Amino acid sequence: MIEIIRENRLIHLRNACISYVMAELPGGVLAHLYFGAPLRTLHPQGLLRHAGIASIEDFTVQECSLDKLPQELPSFGLGDMRPGAVTVEGPDGSWSADLRLVSSEVIDGKPALQDLPATRDAGGSKTLRLTLRDEHTGLEAQLLYTLFEHLPVVARSVRLRNTGSQALRVTRLHSLCLDLPDDKWELITMNGAWGRERGIYRRPLMPGFQGTASRHGASSLQSSPFLALARPGANEAHGEVIAAALIYSGSFTATVFGHQYGSARMLIGLNDEDFSWLLEPGEALQSPEAVLVHSREGIGGMSAAFHALWRGHLLPQRWVSQPRPVLFNSWEAAYFDFDEDKLVAIAKAAAEAGADLFVLDDGWFGHRDNDCTSLGDWYTDRRKLPGGLGCLVDKVRDTGLQFGIWMEPEMISPESDLYHTHPDWAMQIPGREPITSRHQLILDVSREDVQDFMVESVSQTIRDSGAVYIKWDMNRNYSNIGSAVLPPERQRKLPHRYMIGLYRVMKRLTEAFPDVLFEGCSSGGGRFDAGLLYFCPQYWCSDNTDVLSRCRIQYGTTIVFPPSTMGCHVSAVPNHQTARVTPLNARFAAALCGSFGYELDPRKLTDEEREEVRRQITYAHETEDTRLNGRFYRLLSPFEGNDTAWISVREDQREAVLTFIRERSQVNFFPTLLPLRGLNPDFTYRVEETQEVYGGDELMQAGLLMPVKPGDAEALVYTIRTVEA
Ligand code: GLA
Repeated sequence: MIEIIRENRLIHLRNACISYVMAELPGGVLAHLYFGAPLRTLHPQGLLRHAGIASIEDFTVQECSLDKLPQELPSFGLGDMRPGAVTVEGPDGSWSADLRLVSSEVIDGKPALQDLPATRDAGGSKTLRLTLRDEHTGLEAQLLYTLFEHLPVVARSVRLRNTGSQALRVTRLHSLCLDLPDDKWELITMNGAWGRERGIYRRPLMPGFQGTASRHGASSLQSSPFLALARPGANEAHGEVIAAALIYSGSFTATVFGHQYGSARMLIGLNDEDFSWLLEPGEALQSPEAVLVHSREGIGGMSAAFHALWRGHLLPQRWVSQPRPVLFNSWEAAYFDFDEDKLVAIAKAAAEAGADLFVLDDGWFGHRDNDCTSLGDWYTDRRKLPGGLGCLVDKVRDTGLQFGIWMEPEMISPESDLYHTHPDWAMQIPGREPITSRHQLILDVSREDVQDFMVESVSQTIRDSGAVYIKWDMNRNYSNIGSAVLPPERQRKLPHRYMIGLYRVMKRLTEAFPDVLFEGCSSGGGRFDAGLLYFCPQYWCSDNTDVLSRCRIQYGTTIVFPPSTMGCHVSAVPNHQTARVTPLNARFAAALCGSFGYELDPRKLTDEEREEVRRQITYAHETEDTRLNGRFYRLLSPFEGNDTAWISVREDQREAVLTFIRERSQVNFFPTLLPLRGLNPDFTYRVEETQEVYGGDELMQAGLLMPVKPGDAEALVYTIRTVEA
């Protein structure tokens, strides 16, 4: 049950998992009092005295320093010296917004956010809407707080509106500000690079500013719009963790400020370095939504809350539990070097191995023999495919496979027909030589004509090919950020307007083609964020498919995102990114962690390997529901030792799939006894691969033996099922 209780100037949001409490102080100052495990009641005197206030009634802004007060939407310039959540320049050039609470209302369900993806009501949620106002400028701020049933989550967003008569300029807008009474935390962020996305970084919280950010114009390969504070000692199963994630795919900041008095302020929102938003009278600006998670069951509990939230309230609902096709992608099989015969031969071999879907990656359009040309010219390269896409697709379908295709719709190559016709559609700064990265420029997706072009070219490709799957790629970061249609004083709107434009395009396409599976990609797993997952139920996790690299990348990704969202493929050896040679079984074990497929030329498999691949695909199908829709537990971390292990347990606890991967072979050690998690202690289970029978309690307390063969990157996949009585 969700309750939003308003009494004695307190606003208490509560469900079975959490409480979130605010206080309306005299003068309408909105203080934050508590976020954590659910409370029956809150007597605020202790928390107020902690903030230097004798009682609610005694509060005045003149006598009580705002620097000590935990707040919901602080701004700079009113005595609070910590980083603020909003900065708005008034007509007089000053930049403090003194926002005071003027009204509140409770709404059943959850309003959608204008232009931006956000969590949805799935029945039973409640939203509190608070309206704050700065009398001096006429700036109004609406705060939305939504609670969901059975989830330790608060979703929050901010909508600014100019109700005054003169233009205002928003130069900072954080979606969430959480003031915590102490700083005894460790900060966790996810950072990386191409080929090693989403590593886990944990360090003690320090005084001052710390965190992670992106100004790439995308949430990026380098950092994720997420941060967590864990109590020292908190691990996968135990300890308190507070985390926030932003439902946004553009530049962001996720920071914590350790304050002089030993408190901490957590902020997550738009990156303000490349942001400045002119707000004319009557105009509004919606922040992305942030979600705040509380866990008393460590980092694992936090992940479970995120996974349940995304699955129940964010991912395209049609796809959540829908079986995913086992796909063969042409990229590492052929790169740019193919013709129709070669593709059909690959598809035929993939079909014989038992695949469901053939995906034609880059190189099929314009005259694209390398990455120097043709982005934007989304018509078939007849030199390679003389019969057109339709002819290829017919032949692929004849093999028994469905067809999917790669596109990079946000991009334009200077060497393309599109660029010659519409040079102004590329983001660039007049008079400056554009910086091309991967020989390409970015389309100005903020423009409606560009959005229409993107929708039309993707739609046409889907119609021409009957594709049931689109790999939506985005392969470069911002430079020369400039729009031909924005006046100088609005140029810094461009990065955020770009994201709004992109979301509009994705919305139009996913509504027009609800049966098409969109898989996101950005040079691998860049821009793997909740904003795009609203449209794309799965995302290519990384271009690096090496087993040992994938152990880290996938382990890190599951900190926030559930297995079904991760595109994970078996590739050839030597691995194209690391040159490492690993056993086929280990590549399979790693790829089973997500939406499963292959990134290799099946014609090059030996007979024995082809048989093994056939068995792998059968197994992937058989266990898909448990692997992708079960509860996921991380058991051994590749960031902390030589072994990686995780287990997915079906909701009824009657089936589990366990994966164990040893990085380097070790001599003369006992094999690992691995305590499992998530099983029912009272059930009796059989490990299908060994036919051994154990109690659930034994498997979780005494552990299961992991007798891996000698050799680097050796793996075990165990199917654990209840023994029928
Ligand atoms: C990006 C993707 C790859 C592949 C290439 C094609 O790098 O991450 O998977 O699609 O583009 O150019």
